[in-house]
Amino acid sequence: MKLPHHLTIKKGHLHISGQDCTVLAEKYGTPLYVTSEDRVCEQYRSYKKALLARYPKVQVLFAAKANGNLAVMRALAQLGAGADVFSSGELHLALDAGMAPEKLLFNGSSKTPADLKLAVEKGVKVSVDSLDELHQLDAAAKIAGTVATIAFRVNPALEVPTHPKIATGLATSKFGIPHKEIPAAYREALTCKNIKPVGLHCHIGSQILDVEPFVRAAEVMVRIAKELTTMGVQLEFIDLGGGLGIPYHHDTDPSPTPEEYAAKVIPVFKDGVEACGITPELWVEPGRSLVADSTVLLTRVNSTKSAHKRFANVDAGFNLLIRPAMYDAYHEVIVANKADAPLTTEYTVTGPICETGDILAMDRKLPPIAAGDLIAVLDAGAYGFAMSSQYNGRPRCPEVLIRGARAALMRRGETIGDITASMERPPWQK
Ligand code: LLP
Repeated sequence: MKLPHHLTIKKGHLHISGQDCTVLAEKYGTPLYVTSEDRVCEQYRSYKKALLARYPKVQVLFAAKANGNLAVMRALAQLGAGADVFSSGELHLALDAGMAPEKLLFNGSSKTPADLKLAVEKGVKVSVDSLDELHQLDAAAKIAGTVATIAFRVNPALEVPTHPKIATGLATSKFGIPHKEIPAAYREALTCKNIKPVGLHCHIGSQILDVEPFVRAAEVMVRIAKELTTMGVQLEFIDLGGGLGIPYHHDTDPSPTPEEYAAKVIPVFKDGVEACGITPELWVEPGRSLVADSTVLLTRVNSTKSAHKRFANVDAGFNLLIRPAMYDAYHEVIVANKADAPLTTEYTVTGPICETGDILAMDRKLPPIAAGDLIAVLDAGAYGFAMSSQYNGRPRCPEVLIRGARAALMRRGETIGDITASMERPPWQK
């Protein structure tokens, strides 16, 4: 199996950024998320470099939803990243991680009054999803005695090749304002006393392995920019969203790089804004492509069983990685303590959750497995821990961050006490 350079096999053991997965699992227990900070930083730098080589004003906003661990966000903040935040919680995380408020965009199609209040108080830019929200934000800014700087979320009505649950720029999708209505929305915004419209935002979907749809989106955005500039609007930034996919099928998926993305998208963007006579900042919001492959989920085999097929029953299930159950997503798996053994036997790797759909990997050729073996689920750094739950009364597992030769917890494992800690006893049960 093709592996990115930070995953290596030495003496039969899988290593991540030079550290032996079996040793980490022994030390911290399983299940365990292990993230390479070096890899996260490398991916961020490659985005920045590819974009800056072709356009002078670039801001990379990490999509915090992909991985909300403060240590991961802090590593990105230290390199100058901002963030796309989709809730008050993510806004707090980004600020706690040290990201500058001016590098944050508060996104979302269903913001609460409290979200809007927090956004204006913290002075972050807001991607406004509807005219109703625009007026609520205007009122919130007035109460706070400030002016809210905004972008509108454009719905570009683009079909994209990805799972339907994660295509977000379809004409039928819940996100954004139809692209044809954006100039009218801008006109409306210009009448609001406590709103300053300065940006345009779109996000067409996630896990997109072809860069052409991003080119189409850039075309729509610069077309709108032209109309707005003619109206006299001063655009300070245009945000093309995230969505670049990663090769979950290591040997067969295309593997689009930030370099390819930039090489195709920037010329369209640059020509478009030059035609408007403006040089707005170009913002992008990658999540998955920054962090997915930085992380492995290590899970121990509890037992094996040969029934109508062979099962390897492991200690992590869709409580910790829901992507296979939710999107039929594919993640490569490697038996970390037998990483160079011949792949002779077919297994379905199943979690401990009481649901038939609790399958991490279906019908995979692996070495013969025994209880106690360690399985690494690859590419688990995006929408992995971030979408975890305590379903079936299972505390969430710890997360470890590694950097160089060092390793440390970046989140302790939960206990049963953590599960019950927020529960209350109604008075009639006392
Ligand atoms: N910006 C906005 C406004 C978004 O909604 C998203 C993701 C991103 C940026 C980052 O997209 P990325 O670069 O990560 O593709 N849970 C799903 C993915 C949901 C994506 C939601 N929005 C999964 O596990 O595949």
